[in-house]
Amino acid sequence: MPVLNNISQLATCPPDRPQHDAGLLENAALVWTDGLVRWVGPITDMPTQYQDEPAIDCAHRLIVPGLVDCHTHLCFGGWRSDEFELRLRGASYQEIAHAGGGIASTVAATRGASLDELQHKAESILDEMLDLGITTVECKSGYGLDQANELKQLEVYRQLNDSHLVDLVPTFLGAHIIPPEHEKHRDRYISLLCDVLIPRVARQGLARFCDAFVETGAYTIEETRHILSVAAEHGLGIKIHADQLSDGGGAELAAELGAVSAEHLEYVSEAGVEALAASGTVAVSLPLASLYLGEPYMPARKMMDRGVPVAVATDFNPGSSPSYHLPLAMTLACIHQGMTPQESLKGATSVAAQAVSLSQQIGTLLPGYAADLAIIDAPNLNHWLYHFRPNACIAVLKNGAWVRGNQSVLAINNPST
Ligand code: NIG
Ligand code: FE
Repeated sequence: MPVLNNISQLATCPPDRPQHDAGLLENAALVWTDGLVRWVGPITDMPTQYQDEPAIDCAHRLIVPGLVDCHTHLCFGGWRSDEFELRLRGASYQEIAHAGGGIASTVAATRGASLDELQHKAESILDEMLDLGITTVECKSGYGLDQANELKQLEVYRQLNDSHLVDLVPTFLGAHIIPPEHEKHRDRYISLLCDVLIPRVARQGLARFCDAFVETGAYTIEETRHILSVAAEHGLGIKIHADQLSDGGGAELAAELGAVSAEHLEYVSEAGVEALAASGTVAVSLPLASLYLGEPYMPARKMMDRGVPVAVATDFNPGSSPSYHLPLAMTLACIHQGMTPQESLKGATSVAAQAVSLSQQIGTLLPGYAADLAIIDAPNLNHWLYHFRPNACIAVLKNGAWVRGNQSVLAINNPST
């Protein structure tokens, strides 16, 4: 049975303890077999049955659960670096969208890309996410916005979930914006979503969740309530892009519908915070989107103080967040949102797992959970998130198998500690 020892700090991230308690163990060891964690604790408490097993020396490093990026738009055609400069010159995200750029321009590029092209692009991004210690990724459609192209994106996810080491959790975001060809008769597109696409996606198991973007220029509260109610009837879990650019009542709707998560919430109202606290919906914070768009950060401190679980994710997409650096998002959540390192880590592990309804399987390092973990070249959690490095992750276990780094990497001394 493989054993990891000489771990200076290990974060178990228990889901049943408050977010500020990441279950930190000092001088720890961990035992796994058959892809699952078997035992974890201080090395002095290791049961005798494991003491004679050959141990892998972690050379006094930090171990965290494999990171869960619970909000991405992984699959898309093209990029939008031209918009980056336009925004730096003063144009707003909404102004660019009104001028035909924004999401609509990525829809055109995604429609123009083949399944193979999209798949290769997403695959190389997943490779780099795994380098960072990310072992599970939620991924949304929403750049096809017609039958063939929404299914193409979801098919990319299905194939990548089979072929890639990272696990994917697909979400249907057909209600991202109204596609340009339907702008004058939005009801027809909403009927396509409700009568054709949602039933088909659910029947074929192409997505576990259905998401919608509630915003001026995207979907109204009434439209979203209708679309997501249909999705729920078909057995899909509910997510909402809520209150990102204005307070549109998205948080309250998420609570009303029993959504698993409400995501963004940069402009959430007091009533929205209260509603989420009462419903148990996870608030997914996306600090990289705030950074790139110069928007406020979600009031994570206030939410956690009111009892709302707060996940931290990247929102990786070609417009508002062209970065998939989840550890950077975690550091930003500490600096700009008043999250402690333990709260931020749980936000990207056990609470993120809750946001994709997998909190019994991943995001935690306790017996019975997946042996998904990242070995971080830092002595402890505070040091990792404070001493931001391009990549401090030196080895990754996924379902108990080494998928990045290995024993010999661990033997190399770390110059930064
Ligand atoms: O989460 N807000 C809507 N969707 C994305 C942005 C997508 C894009 O700009 O292409 C987001 O920020
Ligand atoms: Fe998003």
